[in-house]
Amino acid sequence: MNYDDAKNSISQLQHFFTGIKYQIIDNIIHHPQGTIRNAWEIYIIHTTIYHDFCHATFGRYIHYIPTTVDDKGQLCVYNKLKNFGINNLNETVWLLASEHHSSLTTWDNYYKDSKSVLTFNLHANRFLKAFIEKYNPPSDYFKVLDIAMGRGRNSIWLARKGYQVVGFDASIEGIQIVKYQAERFNLTNLQSYVASIEEFSFGLEQWDLVVCMYFPLINQTSYLRRIEQSLKNEGLLIVEGFHWDSLSGEHRIPTGVTYRTNAIPSLFPNLTTIVNEEPVDYSDFGNEMTKLVRYVGQKHHFSVSRVN
Ligand SMILES: C[S@@+](CC[C@H](N)C(=O)[O-])C[C@H]1O[C@@H](n2cnc3c(N)ncnc32)[C@H](O)[C@@H]1O
Repeated sequence: MNYDDAKNSISQLQHFFTGIKYQIIDNIIHHPQGTIRNAWEIYIIHTTIYHDFCHATFGRYIHYIPTTVDDKGQLCVYNKLKNFGINNLNETVWLLASEHHSSLTTWDNYYKDSKSVLTFNLHANRFLKAFIEKYNPPSDYFKVLDIAMGRGRNSIWLARKGYQVVGFDASIEGIQIVKYQAERFNLTNLQSYVASIEEFSFGLEQWDLVVCMYFPLINQTSYLRRIEQSLKNEGLLIVEGFHWDSLSGEHRIPTGVTYRTNAIPSLFPNLTTIVNEEPVDYSDFGNEMTKLVRYVGQKHHFSVSRVN
């Protein structure tokens, strides 16, 4: 965690304490998660200072119980504080605190769990398939990069069509499944790597198509510009994910994996938007009807600015 992240977590902890003081939230039921919780834990270690602070601020000791609140619970706390009138809440700190999405152990366990296939579309993403079938690029020399490829369902479909596919994922279990499948189908045109998006070297003007399915691209990360720069002239970026409104449905969708309306075009200001839709359709994760976002952007040589 860098200095700014630490400062943000502490300021959001202060908002949490304000909520307790004015009885907007209950410190036991509405336990904060992620970095706010970490900041609270560290504060408690300074027992005397924390004790004095509690008595001076709340007139009582505020206990900490290490319970886990899911993303909907965290969203509920965030909304309570916002409705109370705290307007400098840091949405990213509250809503991207979701540990289970980014936790690689969780993804490794997910891929190891045979039951996970029941809630997951094992076939290639429908939007990607429809787009490729319509666009129908010639397979020779058409180079595709699959970001956070998971078990490789999209890469395998693309490689079987004859495209040159490279993919990466931070999950070792996921990549093992990709490699096994590539061997099974004798796909010498599919390469897969264990790597995180933060460390992966995208290269310059490498890809005709970059695929990013159900991986949350986050604002203010250095990889956004690297993705743009890695596209060839006329290269395409295709994305599908959950819309923010899908959170209000029945399903347990982590807040951190959703996109607001027009969020994706604003993440890629240097690409020309070709498709930007918000359909209600079956999601690939959860296999339920919900609101999604679908985006295709295209690079034109003159449009990409310098490296950030
Ligand atoms: C919802 S799955 C999507 C997998 C794949 N794109 C698909 O549609 O089948 C999200 C994937 O992101 C991977 N992931 C999470 N954090 C990552 C990171 N920092 N860098 C690379 N991959 C990551 C997980 O291991 C997981 O495979």
